[in-house]
Amino acid sequence: MTELPPADVLATALSRQPPRRDTAASWRHWCTTRHQFVPAPRLTLAQWKTMSLAERSLHDMHRTATHVNMPLLETPMSIKVSRLVNRRIRNNAFKQKPSTRAGVMVSGWGYQGKTETVCEVLAAFEEDWLLLHDQLNPQAVDGTRDLHLPIAYVQTPVTAKPKSTCQAILDFFGADTKNMTLPELVRQVAASLHDHGVKALVLDDITRLRMHRADDQDTLDLLRAFMSMNVTLVLIGVDIPHSGLLREGRWDEQTRQWLLPTSEHARVHGLEATQTERRFDLVELDRFRTTTPEQITAFHAHLTGLEDNLRLLKAPPGMLTSGTMPEYLMRRTDGVVGLLERLIEDGAQEAMDSGRETLDENLLDEVILSLDDPGRDAAAGEIPTIPGSPAPTTSGHLKTAPARPTKNRNTSFDDHGPGLAQPSA
Ligand SMILES: Nc1ncnc2c1ncn2[C@@H]1O[C@H](COP(=O)(O)OP(=O)(O)OP(=O)(O)O)[C@@H](O)[C@H]1O
Ligand SMILES: [Mg+2]
Repeated sequence: MTELPPADVLATALSRQPPRRDTAASWRHWCTTRHQFVPAPRLTLAQWKTMSLAERSLHDMHRTATHVNMPLLETPMSIKVSRLVNRRIRNNAFKQKPSTRAGVMVSGWGYQGKTETVCEVLAAFEEDWLLLHDQLNPQAVDGTRDLHLPIAYVQTPVTAKPKSTCQAILDFFGADTKNMTLPELVRQVAASLHDHGVKALVLDDITRLRMHRADDQDTLDLLRAFMSMNVTLVLIGVDIPHSGLLREGRWDEQTRQWLLPTSEHARVHGLEATQTERRFDLVELDRFRTTTPEQITAFHAHLTGLEDNLRLLKAPPGMLTSGTMPEYLMRRTDGVVGLLERLIEDGAQEAMDSGRETLDENLLDEVILSLDDPGRDAAAGEIPTIPGSPAPTTSGHLKTAPARPTKNRNTSFDDHGPGLAQPSA
């Protein structure tokens, strides 16, 4: 007899909404539910055949939900980023001295897992911090207790100006910003950060700021001002070293950090009397590479992790790791985790729809990778170039024909060189 999950577990698994994290309530909801997804049970083909049509239909929906809700898998690249962000946030949070906290910049190309990697670290920190403080803000004054929100996650507005950026931050707290002037907004952000006991302010997609625009420079300066609030500023963006964000910065070889000039806004808005440079660690989240044996092993381990989360009924062991499959997957995705995830989940759906119930190169050739994601700004590099496709268009719409080798020699495991020439953090 086939073991099926209870109806309520299945209903929850199948009715999940895409996560929103840009308000305090949605951030908290995501944090508390992010590991709750229950994958479909593993069934053999023989077991599946014993099911009634209705049971099969439900189980197939559960399998689809499983394929599109794969857990984050640790990679050597994500471990490097997680460690640095984690260390910086925790060290800063426990620091008693009034000095300005160093910030962190996380850079990488589009779809390489920057947002998910950093959010996971922050969510884990938030859980620990709330546990430590028993859900109450240690800075709150008795009788006026504000909700304790150790993390504030904000997406940079596509056309960011100091006012709209303050509004985006205040939207996270649900504060009313109607008819407020910039000085009022700045004061309100400072008050919200303090009153809610915020330890880290995350600005995702920060490279939507274009540093040749005065408004955008002004916005970055304003964000640096909030570092005076003893908050760790976490900036996430595409190819930060070449984005202009560091243009006015200088690299400090001794501390291996970037130093950015003092914040004019901090002085003007009275957030800080003295002028201090802002320090940032810069860490790069790379794609998979296959130059060294260690890198090849790491890529294979990731493929094994993906395979383990698939529920195809005729999948042979080593489906993604044996033969020429790893080279094929590298060629299709250039080692970008997000593209790999998309290819596998679309392939798995095709395998189920066609009844083939396994993944092979012929089937994956039929999958056209297309990233139509309204939440990503193509102009800011948030949509990666898909191997075999034209460069991303500003509309964000990309399609590519199946990647077929053009030479006899298999070149997919040839490394295309370092992604970024920059000082490593
Ligand atoms: N370590 C991982 N293991 C498995 N899947 C991952 C991993 N990291 C990211 N992904 C998947 O890759 C996709 C892209 O990740 P994410 O949105 O974090 O990328 P990003 O670098 O922030 O992209 P963008 O620059 O477009 O904002 C997501 O669907 C995510 O689930
Ligand atoms: Mg992102």
